[in-house]
Amino acid sequence: MGKIRQLSNEDINKIAAGEVVESPKNMVKELVENALDAGATEIEIEISQGGFERIAVKDNGCGMSSEDAVLSTERHATSKIRGYLDLAQCMTLGFRGEALSSIAAVSRITILTSEKTPLGVEVSVEPGKEPVCISKGRRRGTTVVVEKLFANTPARKAFQKSPAQSTRDIKQVCKALVLSHFGVSFTLVIDGKEEYRLHAAPSLERVSSLYEPSFTRDLRELKHDCFSGFFSPPDIAHLSRSHQFLFLNGRTITSPELSRAMERGYATMLNAGTFPHFFLWLQIEPDSYDVNIHPQKKEVAFREEEMLCQALQNAVRDAFRTRVVFEEEISREPLVRFEMPRQEVQFELREEPRVPDFEIVALVQSIAIVAREENLLIMDLVRAKKSLIVKEMGQGKLPAMQSLLFPIQITVSDQEVDRIEAYPEKLAAWGIEGHRTGPHLFSVEAVYPGYDEGKLQEVIGAMCRGEAWESQVENLRVGPTFSPHEVREIVRGILDARLEFSPTGKRIWKRCSMEQFAAIVDQ
Ligand SMILES: Nc1ncnc2c1ncn2[C@@H]1O[C@H](COP(=O)(O)OP(=O)(O)OP(=O)(O)O)[C@@H](O)[C@H]1O
Ligand SMILES: [Mg+2]
Repeated sequence: MGKIRQLSNEDINKIAAGEVVESPKNMVKELVENALDAGATEIEIEISQGGFERIAVKDNGCGMSSEDAVLSTERHATSKIRGYLDLAQCMTLGFRGEALSSIAAVSRITILTSEKTPLGVEVSVEPGKEPVCISKGRRRGTTVVVEKLFANTPARKAFQKSPAQSTRDIKQVCKALVLSHFGVSFTLVIDGKEEYRLHAAPSLERVSSLYEPSFTRDLRELKHDCFSGFFSPPDIAHLSRSHQFLFLNGRTITSPELSRAMERGYATMLNAGTFPHFFLWLQIEPDSYDVNIHPQKKEVAFREEEMLCQALQNAVRDAFRTRVVFEEEISREPLVRFEMPRQEVQFELREEPRVPDFEIVALVQSIAIVAREENLLIMDLVRAKKSLIVKEMGQGKLPAMQSLLFPIQITVSDQEVDRIEAYPEKLAAWGIEGHRTGPHLFSVEAVYPGYDEGKLQEVIGAMCRGEAWESQVENLRVGPTFSPHEVREIVRGILDARLEFSPTGKRIWKRCSMEQFAAIVDQ
């Protein structure tokens, strides 16, 4: 008898699901994309325990009939295309008819849907079982609830990230969805707490509702027949590309080529190893690209990629002459807005902006001369920045991590694996998040941006040896040059924290009064 066997349908589905929905964040993305394809104008996303316990996505879209609701969890069942040729004209985010079936293959899924208020149907599907269908009332729209994630695929479950990291990933995915569909209202609820409730708004307003004013400061605007967007000035740059958002006809994509083209537009203005942030919305005919080249539809192949890259590069270069003026600087915090019906007056309450209490008089390499009240402070910025990082991280305060667009693979020993798995919170306190991808492979997916990425192996080793975090100060990538924005932030941080000495006891700044200066001149 031959060795080849046909796999069961259940196993085929479980294996296929691994490509489409390998984590809660992919499930959230697929469910929200379905809601958007259904024409929803209001979407609510709720997650518990990083989505592992429960994910619910509620929309007011077109809903489904009971027959379609049952069929929707079957493999290759879609209402979006009739055949392969339709792909060339496809403007919907989904088209493969795989997402719901993949989710249903590895979790319990309940779909409550209605095409017409108040008649509805609830379909519950458990892996390997027949769907159960009951009539239930609902307003027009659909709610999909996913529970018991990966209960029947223990190997996949074992390699999932921590709930905290998964929550961060979901927030990042939602951020991209929210930014790509600013005409839709979104609510995100995490572990019972409302993270945000965003009403339909113009693109810039949506961007500023998600970011600190310092992030949206001095954004430049891009306008072109095929794209529009905003990008940061060169002095507000980051150590990774995780703040670069590319949207193609409402779809979030990644494209190192397009990212690099945007960066080339800055010419020599960017410091080596730093990346600007941008939000780019591309509107291109669907027959000019192929979206069917990546399991999660994240990458696309453009027919005229070179021309598009050139147009982006030129547009960035030209846009450096303009600066976005916010409508009355709406982004300034704190801001309380009372929403009135459209066309009526909006009242805004703001606090007075903080009066700057210092001035940077000069910058000599990494030494800043700061005027404050009647004194001049001479500040070592490298020491200052390191002291601020140690202060944040050494006090057990979780550092702000940035998700890496391209995770870094690190080889770890048996002892290190044991330690990392026994104390995941310790790693997080050291500003590193990731998960095992093999017996001796650890994939770093988010990291405190102050680390030198080339030194991560050393940092993880030190943590596993039980060293104090302060020992890693030398593995931080700090200076020696700083953008004017960074200089201000460092000086403000040191003065606000009243830090005068570094953790190793070295002086961060020295004060010189006007009398002392006068005495020096007199000498
Ligand atoms: N929220 C929703 N509202 C209305 N219809 C929905 C919703 N979610 C799913 N559907 C229907 O179920 C079908 C199957 O959804 P599924 O996500 O599995 O596939 P798809 O969106 O067609 O393609 P893809 O696998 O690429 O996402 C959809 O084509 C759509 O008709
Ligand atoms: Mg879909």
